[in-house]
Parts: sequence; structure tokens; C-alpha cells
Amino acid sequence: MKPSTLVSLLCTSAAAVQAAIPSSAHRNNLNQRSQQHQNQQPRLLHTLSPSHLSAQTKAKTLSQSLSLSQAAAESVQGGAIFTLPTNKSTITSITGTFTIPHALVPTTGPTANGSASTYAASFHLSIDGFPSSSSSSAQCNTGGAALRAGIDIFYDAAAGGEERPFAWYQYAPSSSAVGFANFSAAPGDTLKFTLSISTSTSSGAGAGAGAGVVTVENFGPGRKATKPIQTATATVVGGGQALCGRQAGWVVEDFPLAGLPDFPVALADFGTVTFGALGVGLDSGKKVGEKEFVAGTGLVDINLEAQGGRLTDCKLVRGGGGGGVTSQVRCARVVGN
Ligand SMILES: *[C@@H]1O[C@H](CO)[C@@H](O)[C@H](O)[C@H]1NC(C)=O
Ligand SMILES: *[C@@H]1O[C@H](CO)[C@@H](O)[C@H](O)[C@H]1NC(C)=O
Ligand SMILES: *[C@@H]1O[C@H](CO)[C@@H](O)[C@H](O)[C@H]1NC(C)=O
Repeated sequence: MKPSTLVSLLCTSAAAVQAAIPSSAHRNNLNQRSQQHQNQQPRLLHTLSPSHLSAQTKAKTLSQSLSLSQAAAESVQGGAIFTLPTNKSTITSITGTFTIPHALVPTTGPTANGSASTYAASFHLSIDGFPSSSSSSAQCNTGGAALRAGIDIFYDAAAGGEERPFAWYQYAPSSSAVGFANFSAAPGDTLKFTLSISTSTSSGAGAGAGAGVVTVENFGPGRKATKPIQTATATVVGGGQALCGRQAGWVVEDFPLAGLPDFPVALADFGTVTFGALGVGLDSGKKVGEKEFVAGTGLVDINLEAQGGRLTDCKLVRGGGGGGVTSQVRCARVVGN
């Protein structure tokens, strides 16, 4: 694992840091927007933020100050990122399962007890789209193309509290997040996401030619069901930006709301989220095994000074034997340290 490398790379811009907490001045805007787009969940802004794209250039400056304090590196993402060690094979699909957490108001830190009107958090899977780690094999994808799917949770004091979670998919950066049609889910439901690159060229850079298939299955409350009660699938076209299939991520993200693009929303208290049944399929037809997964995976935590410092504590919970990945990724909401 190379947590320090990832932490230093997944950073936000200084502008994002300064104004991370929506002030009451934004409240009217939010209300107007939610009235206008009641059925559209208008708040998503899953386009890659400029800070993502400038992360590589920023990393140099940050690593210079890394010796002072690693905690100074800001990040809007937490979770686990697996990177293939070489470009001899390509990731063609990833899976993961998690139970949707409730969105609650944090009780500690600068955003505690309703000092912001809206709290949110995003939980998703992504093929590619992360700043490359020290392994140069990830660098074929400089445009930041990514296939992503997941769920966002919201707590909006002005709109009466916890809101319905929103399931979405996206081929970044050419399209913004789109809601899965005919799909609904509630906190406590267990979801399985499957993301596939649908049109593989031979292998290596350019694989995928910019199309993917995303599927979400809802197994309902509890983790016992074996059959989904609801399934939705979508084909996503990326507008020419191919994926490289080098990275797989299981991510908690603090994202900007639509209309407030310059800073991440106050992160909801989501308790703990556990990504399990992790799968990484390769173009060879093989799946990444536990050993290869652990060796190639880096952990990162959300870290936003304006909201109290480190906001997640993400760990790999090692599993037993078996064919594929048996580890789970567990992220707890924390404040500081
Ligand atoms: C927020 O409210 C909780 C419950 O009333 C309380 O325990 C906590 O100290 C409060 N936190 C702050 C920062 O005021
Ligand atoms: C959603 O479900 C309705 C009713 O079953 C159906 O008519 C409609 O075509 C579905 N829409 C999509 C996009 O699948
Ligand atoms: C794979 O990596 C090698 C060495 O880093 C590089 O020379 C080669 O161009 C890469 N191939 C592809 C298809 O990206």
C-alpha cells in the first residue's frame, strides 16, 4: 500500500479549501433549485472538479511540504484504489456491494449540529479517473476519463431532513451524473454495483473505446437476500475518451453541489460504510486475487481542513482465502486525527 502517495495526489485546490461549508446565504438558492427540479436531484456535480485535473501539478508543491505535515494534503475522496502493476493486462469490470448509510448531521467539528443547511456524501465505484500513483502504468489516461456509478445521500435541514438516496452513473468527464431510471433505494438497503467496459479492443491504452455498461442491484434491507428486488442497467458512451482500465476504486467522496461548484458540501455523518464482494475482472478472463489486490491497493481519506481535518478513517479489512478479493474496504466518518 502507498497511502502517502495517494494522499498527496488526491488533493483539492486552495480555493476549495477556504469555503468548504455552505453558508446560510446559499440556502435560498438551494431551495429554489429543489423546487424547480424536485424530481431531478439537481445537486449532483460529478464532473471531475478542476482540482482533480490539476492534482498532478499540485502534487509537486504538496510533496515539498509533505515533510511538514502530511495532514496538510487535502482530499475530497476516501476509500481504496487498486492500480494494476503493469500495462500488460486491462481491467474490464469491477464490482462491489455496500449497505446505504443514513445521512445524519455530524455532532462534532466545524459543521456540527446544523451549522450548514445541507449535508451529503457519495459512495461509488470507479474504473480509472484517479490521479496516477507513482506507478507510471496508470498515466495513459491523462484526460481523467472514468466510468463511475454509485449513490449519494443527503440531509437537508431546509427540506425537512434526510432525503431519498440517489443512484447514478457517469462517464466522466464528458457526461455528468445520470440517475438510474426506474430504480429506487432507501438507507439500509444493500446494493451491488457492476461496472464493465463494454467494447474491448485488444488490450492496453484505448481499450474500451469509450463505452461501458453499469448495473445496480438492490437486495433490500439487511444483507441476507440472495436475489435482487430491483435491478437497473444502463449503457454509457464516453464521447471518445477511452478508459485505460488501470485503476479500480471503491470511494467515499465529498462532492460540490450543483450551483455551488467551488467547494465540497459539508460531509454528512454516515457512520460507517463497508464495501464488500469486491471484484476486479481482467481482459484475460481472470480475476484479481487477494494477494495482488492488497499489493496494488492504496488507501486514502477525505481530508478538508475547513471541516475539521480528516473526515474518514478507511481501512482494508483482510479476508480469508478463496478465489478473488476477500478483503473489504471499511470507511468510518471521523473528525480530525
Ligand atoms: C451537538 O449536539 C450534541 C447532542 O445534543 C452534543 O452532544 C454535542 O456536544 C454538540 N456538538 C457541538 C459541537 O456543539
Ligand atoms: C420504467 O418503467 C415503466 C413501467 O414499468 C416503463 O414503461 C418504462 O419504459 C421504464 N423506463 C425505463 C427507462 O426503463
Ligand atoms: C506499457 O508500458 C511501457 C513501459 O512503461 C510503455 O513503453 C508502453 O508504451 C506501454 N504500452 C501501452 C499500450 O500503454
